[in-house]
Amino acid sequence: MKVHVLGSAAGGGFPQWNCNCPNCDGYRQGSKRVRARTQSSITVSADQDNWVLFNASPDILQQIRSFPSLQPARSLRDTAIRAVFLIDAQIDHTTGLYMLREHRQPLELWCHALVREDLMSGNPLLKVLDHYCGVNWHDVPLADAGFAMDGVPGLHFTALPLISNAPPYSPHRDHPQPGDNVGVTITDSASGKRLFYAPGLGQMEPPVWAAMQAADCVLVDGTLWTDDEMITLGASKKTSRAMGHLPQSGPGGMLEWLDQLPASTRKVLIHINNTNPILDEDSAQRQELTRRGIEVSFDGMEIDL
Ligand code: MLT
Ligand code: MN
Ligand code: ZN
Repeated sequence: MKVHVLGSAAGGGFPQWNCNCPNCDGYRQGSKRVRARTQSSITVSADQDNWVLFNASPDILQQIRSFPSLQPARSLRDTAIRAVFLIDAQIDHTTGLYMLREHRQPLELWCHALVREDLMSGNPLLKVLDHYCGVNWHDVPLADAGFAMDGVPGLHFTALPLISNAPPYSPHRDHPQPGDNVGVTITDSASGKRLFYAPGLGQMEPPVWAAMQAADCVLVDGTLWTDDEMITLGASKKTSRAMGHLPQSGPGGMLEWLDQLPASTRKVLIHINNTNPILDEDSAQRQELTRRGIEVSFDGMEIDL
């Protein structure tokens, strides 16, 4: 399979429009070795003709322009995006669906019933989209057997409920329900190779850890370096964990878990918040990652499995 990172930043992107944190300011001043990033999304294919889009970010039009494989131009109106999979109902993962409204037929949309419920009520995006291309909704089973997607040959998917956080507009906010947020193991049916993708992972649990140990590559939550990063900066009153994101550093942090994975497992962080010092390629935190063999995803990054 080929994995293409369309957007490696968390909600708000990097630099964020209204932010003057050391990273965002450093980017604008040209005083830091940082690269701009768009909001969280990847696309995956086994044959490089048929792609599944994971999350439709607000930056999707720029992201599609940046990856020509998604526009094969076989007819007047064409796309290689055969299905869209939403890992949660967050704004940074769903707003891009509006930008796909010109589709000639209903979008093949995969998301858990709770995510759909949020997108039919608190944020009625799917109701609005019904006035345009509409969607063919497929519920995401949280079962070990997993599932395949019509139109996306050669890939098998297994979704796991993750403890993270539903969006602020959801009735489930701060009351996580299984399915609000999922992690996905994507298996190449030919090679057997596995990618575990989880941009919103708030708490490690045995099934999640088992899925990470079984993967050849993990592409996981890289939102914040410390639990109090936003509080210390004065950017928010919320801890990383309260927002539904396991911080990288500190006891029980993502780094401690990634260190326990086999050296052969490729370890990549994604959904990186604009404030996270790992964005600065000269930072001590970034060097710490390099020392541990952990990669920081960037827009346009490709992973072949
Ligand atoms: C999150 O990942 O916590 C959200 O996407 C935050 C946001 O951007 O609204
Ligand atoms: Mn997000
Ligand atoms: Zn910033």
